[in-house]
Amino acid sequence: MIYQVYVRSFADSNGDGIGDLRGVIDRLDYLNWLGVDVVWLSPVTVSPDKDWGYDVADYRDVQPVFGSLADFDELVARARDRGMRIVVDLVPNHTSDQHPWFVDARRSQTAHHRHWYIWGDRRADGSPPNNWRSTFGKGSAWQLSPETGQLYLHSFLPEQVDLNWWNPAVRDEFDEIMRFWLDRGVAGLRLDVAHAIVKDRALRDVAPSSENDVLVDLDETYAVLRRWRRLVDAYGEPDRILLGETWVMELERLARFYGRGRDQLHLAFNFPFAFSTLRAECLADVVERTFAAFPEEAWPVWMLSNHDIPRMATRMCGGDERKIRCALLLLFTLPGTAVLYQGDELGLEQAAVPPDRVRDVDKRDGCRTPLPWTRDGGWIDPWLPLGETARNVADERRDPGSILSFARGLIARRRASDDLRSRSYERLGAPAGVWAFRRGASTLVAVNLSDRPATVEGHPLNPWDGVVRDV
Ligand code: NOJ
Ligand code: CA
Repeated sequence: MIYQVYVRSFADSNGDGIGDLRGVIDRLDYLNWLGVDVVWLSPVTVSPDKDWGYDVADYRDVQPVFGSLADFDELVARARDRGMRIVVDLVPNHTSDQHPWFVDARRSQTAHHRHWYIWGDRRADGSPPNNWRSTFGKGSAWQLSPETGQLYLHSFLPEQVDLNWWNPAVRDEFDEIMRFWLDRGVAGLRLDVAHAIVKDRALRDVAPSSENDVLVDLDETYAVLRRWRRLVDAYGEPDRILLGETWVMELERLARFYGRGRDQLHLAFNFPFAFSTLRAECLADVVERTFAAFPEEAWPVWMLSNHDIPRMATRMCGGDERKIRCALLLLFTLPGTAVLYQGDELGLEQAAVPPDRVRDVDKRDGCRTPLPWTRDGGWIDPWLPLGETARNVADERRDPGSILSFARGLIARRRASDDLRSRSYERLGAPAGVWAFRRGASTLVAVNLSDRPATVEGHPLNPWDGVVRDV
């Protein structure tokens, strides 16, 4: 079970309103109590924060507002004391325009780092090199660099410059960056934009019908993933993982990021699952098509929220506590790894951030607001306003009937159950709106995602209720 910590909004140790590494260290006992195995940290590396850490200016140091490398090492050690491990976020698709490589590259066409990035010339009619669009704003993905008159590629902000993964020097450098963190004892890396790292070598236009903004060379992207897999596997015991942000909406395409099952990503995020509606037919369909598409040894990973998409308690559940419990129950009882976004264990809802407090280029602030530790939040003047604090850690910890206690109970049950940690899944017949399945020899899971009472295998279920039972 992986818990996603969005560092800026998790816990602030020094009262400057910004979460930090010491804050995470201070709250390790909470995560341990919850039953977390692995903590994935959003980027903690040096960044001008145009995209809150996803524009990296130094891959080998900690953003000062978060602390230092010494704090990071202490976090890894203190987590290890509690049987927990840390995964760091690596951003290989692009660097900040402030990164020394790009500062050098843009100077001249013969600069040492010039071909670490992707350059093009205007076409005869003055238009950009091709029709690729950037994810933010949807304008051209090409930006003029006045020093040379050439344009550089940016799949996201103009301040996030795409790296040229055809260049062997870039590949070698990232091997070293990975080793830098693996040598510090991390459990692995979450790979940003893992689905689109290597761009089409000839920079051809994307087809007008394509759902993609840029043309990706998938075979070459898989080759890079295999290279990284060999690198992390060479570390041996304890195992390390590569967790890819694979933002693709077809499950067959998702499956290919696992390669033959053991040679590419260990885990590839399943966005079709996260974006499913909370309906038995939809969820069961995504899950079963995932199993059908995956190579035999591939291990699924499920998540419902993250720092880029609206919180599941609002998006899927409309704030209804019964529905939130159903969603969490499924997250923790499906075969595979569960990734829980900070706050989802409380049933935290998407926050309404007033326009004058919005900080994100893509207005994702509502799922990034500070984690409420107490009824008054437990933050001093935080960088983003707190959302609703009725659901908070302190109150929910005290209440055995809270969403937090429910989530913790599920995590404990899963930890203790060979059935729930196995691969096995067998769908059981159930009335419309109910999803029921057997895990292993003797664990029954059933959720009634409907407004009518139902009975499954002799178990009565209220509307929007679920059970995990030994049978
Ligand atoms: C995915 C990250 O999760 C998101 O926050 C970021 O804006 C983009 N990648 C670009 O790095
Ligand atoms: Ca702080």
